[in-house]
Amino acid sequence: ESSEQSQLIGLYDQAAELYTHVLLNTEMGQEALTYLHGRGLTDDIITKFQLGFAPGDQLLKEFFAEKKIDYQLLRQSGLFIEDQEGQLRDRFRGRVMYAIKNPQGHVIAFSGRILNKADSQAKYINSPETRIFSKSNVLYNFDVARSAIRHEKRAILFEGFMDVIAAYQSGVTNGIASMGTSFTNEQIYLLQRTTSQLDICYDGDDPGQAAINRALDAFGANSQLKLSVIEIPDKLDPDEYVRQHGAKQFNEIVHSARLTPTAFKLTYLKRNYNLNNEADQLAYIEQALKEVATIDSSVEQDLYLNQLAKEFGVQPQDLSKQLRQVRSQTS
Ligand code: UTP
Ligand code: MN
Ligand code: MN
Ligand code: MN
Ligand code: MN
Repeated sequence: ESSEQSQLIGLYDQAAELYTHVLLNTEMGQEALTYLHGRGLTDDIITKFQLGFAPGDQLLKEFFAEKKIDYQLLRQSGLFIEDQEGQLRDRFRGRVMYAIKNPQGHVIAFSGRILNKADSQAKYINSPETRIFSKSNVLYNFDVARSAIRHEKRAILFEGFMDVIAAYQSGVTNGIASMGTSFTNEQIYLLQRTTSQLDICYDGDDPGQAAINRALDAFGANSQLKLSVIEIPDKLDPDEYVRQHGAKQFNEIVHSARLTPTAFKLTYLKRNYNLNNEADQLAYIEQALKEVATIDSSVEQDLYLNQLAKEFGVQPQDLSKQLRQVRSQTS
């Protein structure tokens, strides 16, 4: 670790402390604190996850000016936006701040959420890439979750920071998230050193379901991770589900409602068909068999063939026959 890197980490640590202090102890942070309390967060959780508030002025700039921090270091930090005259201004203003940490638990970036959804600005803005931060390598909460991941022998991948935190508050402490990007190979490698099982628990809305489908395709090819899907009902995201149904029901879902990738994919596929008519039934069966054809285990293949046979009142042997045709077409 170069000295520039440790200097940057030092800046982020100080900024995180300042933002948390503003949120918890000042008038400027009052509205954001009320907002977070309203979302069910306690001061303990806010402290634990180092949530903060960046007020609508140049607080961070003034804070570092007093400490006589080197201008070039501030420029490189990504904490500021530089105007044409080379003047720095706080990048994050009027936002709830999520501290993003490296696996060692040091703050390396922020994501800032607007308070008012009515604003036309992006809901979240992230720190830019720096010497210490690469968005596609980060697993949010990995520093905290790692021991629980080892203990549970599995990790749960959520879509959002708030989902990770709500799960944590419910006692589900092995949760991580990527930062609004699809899961990358770097993140897979990081995770594979700690576990071989990943449960994907994205939002129950349509974008979330589509993201699960994409993730299964991307993982399937190039990882040794064993995957399953935890589906959140009623188009809720995990955070909303916890608030509406409580910790106990959330735990039940997490521990018992796991789908295999194929089970998820068949359900997802089915939404495109009107299974009251035979043409759609046949089209669905054909697509479903393509899915089943990708399974390595013949026992698992049989399981889904038998399910499909039952569902549509056809002979499993006929499905097997068609499956062999599908395989020979695709190989
Ligand atoms: P969501 O829109 O599901 O947000 O985006 P959320 O986590 O439920 O947030 P709340 O509950 O409204 O506070 C999921 C994730 O996608 C990324 C963020 O990482 C977010 O947590 N995202 C979303 C962005 O990076 N930028 C955006 O504008 C929106
Ligand atoms: Mn530190
Ligand atoms: Mn979402
Ligand atoms: Mn969400
Ligand atoms: Mn949410």
